[in-house]
Amino acid sequence: MTSSVPVADLSSVMIQRIRNSRQQFPALLRQVNGRPAVFFDGPGGTQVSRRVIDAVTAYYSNSNANEGGLFVTSQETVVVVEQARSAMAALFNCDADEVVFGANATTITFAISRAIGRTLTAGDEIVVTTLDHDCNVAPWKALEELGVVVQQVDVNPEDCTLDMIDFASKVNDKTKLIAVGFASNAVGTINDVEAVVRLAREVGAMVYVDAVHYAPHALMDVKKLDCDFMVCSPYKFFAPHMGALYGKREHLERLKPYKVRPACINPPNCWEVGTQSFESIAGVLAAVEYLADLSEETEQSSLRSRLVSAMRGIQSYEQILTERMLNGLAKMPEVTLYGIKDVARASSRTPTFGLNVTGLAPETVARHLAENSIFSWNGNFYALSLIEKLNLDSGGGMLRLGCVHYNTIEEVDRVLAVLEASFLMRP
Ligand SMILES: Cc1ncc(COP(=O)(O)O)c(C=O)c1O
Repeated sequence: MTSSVPVADLSSVMIQRIRNSRQQFPALLRQVNGRPAVFFDGPGGTQVSRRVIDAVTAYYSNSNANEGGLFVTSQETVVVVEQARSAMAALFNCDADEVVFGANATTITFAISRAIGRTLTAGDEIVVTTLDHDCNVAPWKALEELGVVVQQVDVNPEDCTLDMIDFASKVNDKTKLIAVGFASNAVGTINDVEAVVRLAREVGAMVYVDAVHYAPHALMDVKKLDCDFMVCSPYKFFAPHMGALYGKREHLERLKPYKVRPACINPPNCWEVGTQSFESIAGVLAAVEYLADLSEETEQSSLRSRLVSAMRGIQSYEQILTERMLNGLAKMPEVTLYGIKDVARASSRTPTFGLNVTGLAPETVARHLAENSIFSWNGNFYALSLIEKLNLDSGGGMLRLGCVHYNTIEEVDRVLAVLEASFLMRP
């Protein structure tokens, strides 16, 4: 399980630095109906810092070109991609040639599943979970057309954690890959991915981790986890819209991507089919640098150790927000909160809260919040199997309130107050 640092261990300088970081996000100054907007829509995509906006603008202003030319802007584009790849390697804790960029996590996952499909035969098995976003389910289910058997692990409905006994029972000698999420984008559960990797190793299976929801909240460490793949979406961690993958070198070399013939045959580039969004990649570099700047370490430290310190700070700060939300929601009998509710287990979840108000459709509550300048999401968030398991599919799913480190305690209190006011609309 991922470790979290007690907030008391965080220096006041660090807390202050994280609190001040919101000043770097121009979008957070937005007013709606004369009131400051509250961005509790982070699990659907985060805002970007001034540094990211400047990096994208600078790329367009100075270096905009395709890769592979002998002229200066093309060569600068190659450098930007190299630097961003190294930055992402520091964030994943891998080598730069194990980082693959792509349009988004879903597109990348389909590319990897198709390539892995080339190595499978009928009767081979893949394990997916009921807690995952469909990004880490559908690409594996697509391999059923090859005769591959897909097993689905259940969740414990009372706290939306993975049923690890069911998990162990679904992994066997035929299992070739386990697809698991690091954290649930619907209810915030952080999964024990270390235990999943251990299960996989017993049978020689690969592990594909969806860290899209996890990445803005805690530190990715593929070396420590020893997973085979980890995918994330930079637009969920303060960067532009795109996806990024860690793939163990041996797999990126061994597997064969579907690609056009003239394209490069060497990893990681052979996995990056077509032209990349270089302006977004420039923004990813700036976003990783933004995160590193939240660190307590000096600029002389390695990028990785600055990111370790920054993410430790973010995780601990967000725990303050989580505890405030859990305590506030616990006082509202009108609210059904899905997932981990116990404040003592706050470090086993992200500050993402899936809930319903008795007697009100999630859409009604989301609209009420929007009218009060609070941005939230309603629906299934593509966490299809979980919504079905909780019998929420016919009622419009759930309401999702999600914080990241640029949110504040004051915003949590305001959201709770406006949520409470929605109860007056109940029939
Ligand atoms: C946990 C999780 N996985 C995967 C995805 C899909 O990511 P992308 O939009 O980059 O394909 C999302 C998007 O919401 C997500 O939250």
